[in-house]
Amino acid sequence: MTTDTQSVQHFTSFEKIPVTIFSKAQDGCKIVAEEIASLIRSKQQAGQNAVLGLATGSTPKKIYQELIRMHKEEGLSFKNVISFNLDEYYPLAAESIQSYRYFMQENLFNHIDIEPANCNIPNGQVSVENIKQHCEEYEAKIKNAGGIDFQLLGIGRNGHIGFNEPGSHVSSITRLITLDRITRSDAATEFSGITNVPRKAITMGVNTILGAKRIVLLAWGERKVEIVKKAVEGPVTEFVPASYLQGHQNVTFILDDAAAALLTRNKTPWLTEEVEWTNQMIKKAVIHLALSCNKPLLKLTNTDYNENGLSSLLVLHGNAYDINIRVFNHLQHSITGWPGGKPGADDTNRPERALPVKKKVLIFSPHPDDDIISMGGTFQRLADQGHEVHVAYQTSGNIAVADDEAFRFVEFVKDFNAQFNISSPDADNIFSKAGSFLKQKKNGEIDIAELRQVKGLIRKGEARNTCRFVGIPEENVHYLNLPFYETGTIEKKPIGEADVKIIAELIQKIQPHQIYAAGDLADPHGTHKVCLDGIFEAIDRIKHLDFMKECWLWLYKGAWAEWDIDLIEMAVPMSPEQLLKKRYGIFKHQSQKDGVVFQGTDSREFWQRAEERNRATASLYNKLGLAEYEAMEAFVRWHF
Ligand code: F6R
Repeated sequence: MTTDTQSVQHFTSFEKIPVTIFSKAQDGCKIVAEEIASLIRSKQQAGQNAVLGLATGSTPKKIYQELIRMHKEEGLSFKNVISFNLDEYYPLAAESIQSYRYFMQENLFNHIDIEPANCNIPNGQVSVENIKQHCEEYEAKIKNAGGIDFQLLGIGRNGHIGFNEPGSHVSSITRLITLDRITRSDAATEFSGITNVPRKAITMGVNTILGAKRIVLLAWGERKVEIVKKAVEGPVTEFVPASYLQGHQNVTFILDDAAAALLTRNKTPWLTEEVEWTNQMIKKAVIHLALSCNKPLLKLTNTDYNENGLSSLLVLHGNAYDINIRVFNHLQHSITGWPGGKPGADDTNRPERALPVKKKVLIFSPHPDDDIISMGGTFQRLADQGHEVHVAYQTSGNIAVADDEAFRFVEFVKDFNAQFNISSPDADNIFSKAGSFLKQKKNGEIDIAELRQVKGLIRKGEARNTCRFVGIPEENVHYLNLPFYETGTIEKKPIGEADVKIIAELIQKIQPHQIYAAGDLADPHGTHKVCLDGIFEAIDRIKHLDFMKECWLWLYKGAWAEWDIDLIEMAVPMSPEQLLKKRYGIFKHQSQKDGVVFQGTDSREFWQRAEERNRATASLYNKLGLAEYEAMEAFVRWHF
């Protein structure tokens, strides 16, 4: 990436930092890895060292993978590289699997030819009285190396860079810092619970970072979308430390579509450039106008359009009245109580076809509870309206079961066997193995295979119970146990041939008219995204088959977010009773109740998240002047 490219990319008046957006995070990583490699090579040619500032976390992993590939396949040498990592938890032993030292060894250093003595990471074990000196030495080392040539950064959801939490001063240098609540809860998964996350860390300061000659900050996925907007378009403030980067002369933000979605050029592009007024763009603009004027669609006036940057729309499409009605009708047609199509009805303006009256439906659920959490109302309607509904649970979900919950079930089997005089040495063996493993299990340790199986069975039973509750026959419930998931850790493998084959075979067996899938396109690391990749790949392989010509793919969103309203193509309303029934369906997942293993920052239970989100969608439709429903589930159709 040259400075030239940056000035081309920096084309809107709202962005105070050069931004480059990629539709796939992977492509962004390739570009950044190439920039790093070319720096290393040019320094090599000049007989100099390349000084890299490195980050950890989920964001830069693919860059490291690409650098390793370049080392192995293209002979890129790291002999002239001196690296300085941004931060380390404190106190934390270097050997601990959560330490950033461990992360760097595993994800980069062990696979390249960098000199171990050149890899600098703050020491999470230095004694309290020596911290100050350690930090000063770290700063001095950076200076002695000639300063950082290239600094890689991620961004925390609170806007931190390194571990410079909100409140960090622009002139701060390497120091001990107290981690804030958001940072600690984001790290909770790695540490198996927030209480195990260290409260402090040693981090390079804002000033240390700004001293780098070149800075690239990466952000992927919708988790980062709000903070990216603040850092790029908001004021420079200590409350968003990444906003300090606005003052750097050679910085670029590399984002994927999801992380860039709230930037003005994407959210309201008509304010930053001449747009093509497609139907979709008109819908997006008019809905945005109504919501920002706090008016229902049909009450928007020419003045509202003119005063909010939409006069070009009036010039092209007549007056506000006509445009309002057009968008209103569009939204109205997305609402249907017949997600499988309404028999005998004219379907010209309905989201689904009327025929065939009885459809074969295949719902893919990444984890054993996404079906009921994210589309429970629609699931129930499809079953009640007589369609042949199948559910395929893509993964076992076994890592999300608490240890004591698993042990309770193992004990149950033991008691059950004793009660009914069933002698089962195998069951006894598993019981004692699981018991002794759990007694000495270390924080973050991977479960033994038997325990993982028990946990998987618990979730299977819960999913089966939900299907029974909704009323679909047992033979329509499919447990795929996709192999990519079975690592025993949060980190999953990418989708593999075996996974795609399992998915493709099931689709071919059922030959559905409708497929529902969790459309979390934005989460580059999560299970949902991998599950979706598998479905896309499977569909790609079989889309030439006759039955696939009649098959429609509907995407729902996972538990965390909802589709933007302008994208929704099918909105399925729920009455208060239907919403309550959905809640009871979610309750079948007892292992996921009362505080789950990977709770994250959102302390609400799944049924609460689902209800709030479904109510919010309904209230948005209502705000725009459409009928007032209790709740709604939303879908986008994916054309393959
Ligand atoms: C990591 C670091 C942090 C992370 C940030 C984003 O060394 O200093 O600033 O870059 O917390 O973390 P991920 O990439 O896991 O979302």
